[in-house]
Amino acid sequence: MALDAADLGPATSLTCRECGESYDLGPRYACEQCFGPLEIAYDFTGVTRASIEAGPRNIWRYRGLLPVPTNVQDTPNTEPGFTRLVRADHLAESLGMQRLWVKDDSGNPTHSFKDRVVAVALAAARELGFKVLACPSTGNLANAVAAAAARAGIRSAVFVPSNLEQQKIVTTAVYGGTFVTVRGNYDDVNRLASEIAGEQDDWAFVNVNVRPYYAEGSKTLGYEIAEQLGWRLPDQIVVPVASGSQLTKIDKAFGELIKLGLVEDKPYRVFGAQATGCSPVAAAFKAGHEVVRPVKPDTIAKSLAIGNPADGPYVLDVVRRTGGAVEDVTDAEVVEGIRLLAGTEGIFGETAGGVTVACLRKLVSSGALDPDAETVIINSGDGLKTLDAVAPVARPSAEIAPSLEDFRASGLA
Ligand SMILES: Cc1ncc(COP(=O)(O)O)c(C=O)c1O
Ligand SMILES: [Zn+2]
Repeated sequence: MALDAADLGPATSLTCRECGESYDLGPRYACEQCFGPLEIAYDFTGVTRASIEAGPRNIWRYRGLLPVPTNVQDTPNTEPGFTRLVRADHLAESLGMQRLWVKDDSGNPTHSFKDRVVAVALAAARELGFKVLACPSTGNLANAVAAAAARAGIRSAVFVPSNLEQQKIVTTAVYGGTFVTVRGNYDDVNRLASEIAGEQDDWAFVNVNVRPYYAEGSKTLGYEIAEQLGWRLPDQIVVPVASGSQLTKIDKAFGELIKLGLVEDKPYRVFGAQATGCSPVAAAFKAGHEVVRPVKPDTIAKSLAIGNPADGPYVLDVVRRTGGAVEDVTDAEVVEGIRLLAGTEGIFGETAGGVTVACLRKLVSSGALDPDAETVIINSGDGLKTLDAVAPVARPSAEIAPSLEDFRASGLA
């Protein structure tokens, strides 16, 4: 694929995270020397608070910090981002905390943070000459890819484990692209996708062969949190972990903002959240290991059910460097977490949100997280996509006849 005329904004090259080898920008994702993952390097110029604030109310206000064409906002896309940052005083009070915020990313076009990464991947993939937008997915990514491709007028091809939640199957299929359910778990689907990517030259598997570009989309969560706090960083942040990409990129975003002088330099601590039924990164953290041993997932938090997380070791690096931790919670605690967030703040998160809230609670009670320090948690997806998780316990108070007598007799007045 020719790259001569490619415009990828401030991106200058690809660098190996392991050995530092540098490559020209292009459709590559692994180092030829050591097979390490490649990461975008940049030359940022002219990015100021004012230039960002003058941009659109979506992730493209940060296009000067992303590997996307200069005119990205003018091409048809789902315009994700700039979701609300909600001050969560009632949740804070119930946990004995002082200043707590929920970054509610269920407000994106397909109701999860995946719209961010897909929008960046799509913009880069088109510039790199790919014709089809594809992915292996635990559900939300497939949803975001199918919608973004429909909006851009290109073909999508998405692959998911066949045991996904019904809501995620329907919300993906409705966009009409090629949609394949695979009899296997996510790690099987991911392996298959890599094999297909090896044969289909013009298919951009967003999280496989254009992963370096895709991953940068999660930086926008970090930028937005800082901007919405009035160009400040929080003291602590709790992030759900599947592949671990989101967590590492929020840290990268905070680092860039400090380097560019857009926020004051200050320490912050990054915490990861997993479901115990798929907690390879939490297990490695607790055992003091540097490598992450793959597991077979078994949890209701299907969006986080990646047993062999690509960015697991880098999550450990970030968490250890910043003085955070990686915690995990049982499925019962996940359900409690969903209900706690809904009942205290009126925010219905999906199972990943339940994992994050429940881990927050556990981190506060263990003393790992400081209840008096300003904290942000990420609600990365919408509870309407994982209804089965709470359906057995989220029930009406009573069923009555349409009579005042019946209501009085119900004892609910
Ligand atoms: C709702 C939700 N939250 C969090 C994540 C974790 O993202 P990452 O793979 O970047 O760790 C996912 C991944 O699929 C997800 O769907
Ligand atoms: Zn390398």
